Amino acid sequence: MILVPENHFGEPVAEHYDAQTADRYEPAVLDPTVDFLAELAGDRAALELGIGTGRVAIPLSRRGVTVRGIDLSEAMVARLRAKPGAERIEVTMGDFAHTRAPGAFGLAYLVYNTIGNLTSQDEQVACFQNVAEHLEPGGRFVIEVGVPDLRRLPPGETHRPFTVSPTHLGFDEYDVAAQGLISHHYRFADGRGEVRSFPFRYVWPSELDLMARLAGMSLRERWEDWHRRPFTGESTKHVSVWQKPE
Ligand SMILES: C[S@@+](CC[C@H](N)C(=O)[O-])C[C@H]1O[C@@H](n2cnc3c(N)ncnc32)[C@H](O)[C@@H]1O
Repeated sequence: MILVPENHFGEPVAEHYDAQTADRYEPAVLDPTVDFLAELAGDRAALELGIGTGRVAIPLSRRGVTVRGIDLSEAMVARLRAKPGAERIEVTMGDFAHTRAPGAFGLAYLVYNTIGNLTSQDEQVACFQNVAEHLEPGGRFVIEVGVPDLRRLPPGETHRPFTVSPTHLGFDEYDVAAQGLISHHYRFADGRGEVRSFPFRYVWPSELDLMARLAGMSLRERWEDWHRRPFTGESTKHVSVWQKPE
C-alpha cells in the first residue's frame, strides 16, 4: 500500500521559506550547484524532485536547460509560479517517490537533504526506482545530502544542536534504532516565537549506493560539495551521482 506522505511544507512554511533559506540563494552557494547540474544535463531535460519554490530550477532553466519538477506542496509551488522565469517550468503535483512526470530526462536531482523527507527505507528505495523509470539510457541522478552526524552524538544522548543564535535555535533529535531524525527549529522575531519540527530518515552514502543498484544504476561520482572537492571521512555532506546504463 502506498501512503500519501504528510506535507510539511504548507502555507506557514512556504510563506517564509525563501527568507529563511536566504543563505542558500547566495551566489557562492547556488552558482556552483547550478554549474554542476547544467554540465551534467547538457542538452537533455532535467527533473527536480521536490522543486519547491524553484531556488535551483529557475536559474538552471535560465541556463537553457528544460526543467520539470515534482512536488507535494501547493503552497511551495505557488511561490515558484510567482517568480519570473517560472513560465518555462512545468510542475507535476504528487509524491516524488511514486509520481510519474511526463517525459524522459537526462538528469534527475534531489538537493538540500530532501531525500530524508522520505521517512522510511521503502519510500527511499521507491524514489530511486521512480527516478530510474524517468531517466533515459545514460541518464544521471544527483543527490545532495548530509552525512549522518552520529560521530558527534555522545553515547546515550539523543539531541544535537546544529544552529544556536539569538533568533534561531535548531537541534536534531535522533532515533538511532529507527534511523530517524527530527529537526526542531525555534525561531524568534519581533517579540514572537515559533516552533517547527521536520521528520527525516537519515541515510548513509553506502545505503544510497545500494538503493541505486536495486534500481539498476551505479555510482559515477561522489564529492564533498558542488565544487568537486574530494569526499573524505571528515566530509559533512556529499554530492553523489548515479548513472543508468547507456
Ligand atoms: C527543503 S525543500 C527544497 C526545495 C528546493 N529543492 C530547494 O532546494 O530549495 C523540500 C521540498 O520537497 C518537497 N517534498 C518533500 N517531500 C516530498 C515528497 N515525498 N514528494 C514530493 N515533494 C516533497 C517539499 O514540499 C518542499 O517543496
